[in-house]
Amino acid sequence: MLNLVLFGAPGSGKGTQSAKIIDQYGLYHISTGEVLRDHIARGTELGKIADTYISKGQLIPDDLMIRILEDVLDNEASDKKGVVFDGFPRTIPQAVALNEMLTKRGSDLHAVIGLEVPEEELIERMLNRGKETGRADDNPETIKNRLEVYHNQTQPLQDFYKNEGKYIPINGSGLVDEIFDEISAGVEKATGILRRSRK
Ligand code: AP5
Ligand code: MG
Repeated sequence: MLNLVLFGAPGSGKGTQSAKIIDQYGLYHISTGEVLRDHIARGTELGKIADTYISKGQLIPDDLMIRILEDVLDNEASDKKGVVFDGFPRTIPQAVALNEMLTKRGSDLHAVIGLEVPEEELIERMLNRGKETGRADDNPETIKNRLEVYHNQTQPLQDFYKNEGKYIPINGSGLVDEIFDEISAGVEKATGILRRSRK
C-alpha cells in the first residue's frame, strides 16, 4: 500500500498533480472537492448541504466530511494499491480521523506532499479557471474566503505532519512535469517506492 496526501492551498495544483501520481504509481484518487461537486451536480441531499458551504468558500463540517470520506474509502478504494487523498484532511480533527481510519484498516499514511505556491499565482490560476470552466467557487469573493479558510484552518496541518516526519515541501510554481519530477523524487526518498516509468 502507498497512501499519500496532496496538501496545498486552493489552486496549488492538487488535482493536476494527483492525476499524474495515480497514473505513475497505480493509486486511487479521492478528491473530496470532486466528491462534493458530484453530489451537487446530481442534486442529492448531501449536495444541497455541501453547496451552502462551498459557495461561501467554507469547509463542510468535520463530522460530515469524515463520514463521507470513510464511505468512499470503503466502497471505492478498499481493493486498490493505495490512495491519493486530494483536499483531505483540511483540519486537525480530519487528520486525526484519517490516521485512525488507516490504522483500523491495517494501513498507514506514508507521506504528505505540500504544494507551495505564492498567493498572487493561486488567485490568478483560479480566476483563469473560473473563466475557462465556469467552476462556481472560482469567483473573486469566494476565492478570498477559501484562502482565508486555508490560512486559518488548514495551514496548521503543515506542523502536524512535520511533527510526524511526513511533510515533503514542494515548490508548486513552474512547469507541471517538473513539479511532478520533484514530487516523485520526494516520494521515492521517503518511501523507497519507484514510479512506473523508472522501474
Ligand atoms: P477542492 O475541490 O479541494 O478545491 P480547492 O482546495 O479550493 O482546490 P482547487 O481544486 O481549486 O485547486 P487544486 O489545488 O486542485 O489545483 P488544480 O490542480 O485544480 O474543494 C472545494 C470546496 O469543497 C472547499 O472550498 C470546501 O468547501 C469543500 N471541501 C473539499 N474538501 C473538504 C474537506 N476535506 N473538508 C471540508 N470541506 C471540504 O489547479 C488549479 C488551476 O491551476 C487549474 O486551472 C490548473 O490547470 C492550473 N495549474 C495547475 N498547476 C499549474 C502549474 N504548475 N502552472 C500553471 N497552472 C497550473
Ligand atoms: Mg482540486
